[in-house]
Amino acid sequence: MSKKTVLVSGGAGFIGSHVTVELIEAGYDVVVADNFSNCDMTCFEGVQKIIGRKLPLEKMDFCDEAAAKAIFKKYPIDAVIHFAAFKAVGESVEQPLKYYKNNLVSFMNVLEAAEEAGGCNVLFSSSATVYGEPEKVPVTELTPRQPAMSPYGNTKTMCEDILQDTVKASGGKLRGILLRYFNPIGAHPSALIGELPRGVPNNLVPFITQTAIGKREILSIFGNDYPTPDGTCQRDFIDIVDLARAHVFAVTRMIEGKMKKGVEIFNVGTGRPLSVMELVNAFEKVNGVKVPHKFAPRRAGDITAIWADPTLANNELGWKATRSIEETLKAAWAWECRLAGK
Ligand code: UFG
Repeated sequence: MSKKTVLVSGGAGFIGSHVTVELIEAGYDVVVADNFSNCDMTCFEGVQKIIGRKLPLEKMDFCDEAAAKAIFKKYPIDAVIHFAAFKAVGESVEQPLKYYKNNLVSFMNVLEAAEEAGGCNVLFSSSATVYGEPEKVPVTELTPRQPAMSPYGNTKTMCEDILQDTVKASGGKLRGILLRYFNPIGAHPSALIGELPRGVPNNLVPFITQTAIGKREILSIFGNDYPTPDGTCQRDFIDIVDLARAHVFAVTRMIEGKMKKGVEIFNVGTGRPLSVMELVNAFEKVNGVKVPHKFAPRRAGDITAIWADPTLANNELGWKATRSIEETLKAAWAWECRLAGK
């Protein structure tokens, strides 16, 4: 069988770069496309080091309709994975139009280009954010979606609907998978790629690693009065390499025609809740470093507790998270140390 080609939009970012590595290791050809608006060449170069060769790179913006169409003409694309999007929840509240324009237009351009090119398999990077504050945990794919807490979250819900409607109207030309990610953390075991937040990190693990290395003074733990076992929020922290592997299973399922309907939805999580405090403690223990921390008021918009029921992905995709939290937190620390030249 000839090699299949996967276009990865936003392929130079945190999730995109890890997915690119896993796809290549599984035997796919990958075209990385990125406008580098929120990342630099570090991860793309890291990917090339891991795989030991050069990769096709398209510096482009999917909001540019002509550019989106051109890339589908240039390569024989069997599947597209769409990551290219803005992702800062707080910023999306302050600048909603920036988020709606970028995240919706780029995805619509991908779909239009894919359809015009004769059809394609489309994987969209959705989020557990679509479940809002769930009434029951863990959440399955049938758990009702809730109104989004932010324009960022809204773009995820809207893109899910855009994919559903477009696939339905495409007369079989398009098929799609929505992967709903929980909290992706960690880094590649090689420490050649990882998370590279610009400025002060919004997310927990980069804040922890930057505090442990001395770049930040102290970690604020937002809220210790939640109705959870230790009072801090609970999340489903999923290793980035495990998460990346889920994409390989999903792409293969689409390409091999094994889907049971036009659009399928899978939770990508471990099924294991961990509290913020438990995560901080585990990080200190496994890496033998201190993370100065204090309790601070709750952060607006935070969900008390959410974790996945990953049964559907386990059974249908044949995918399961395998890396322990210790391995994941070691990898996150190794990446931070490498960035600091230590
Ligand atoms: N937290 C802290 N201190 C920090 C940063 C985070 O205590 O400095 C806490 C938060 O309050 C929260 C937990 O750590 O309880 C996780 O926070 P993150 O910002 O790392 O992740 P979220 O669960 O808020 O957000 C993630 C994704 C979003 C997505 C959201 C909902 O990063 O893209 O889940 O699915 F929208």
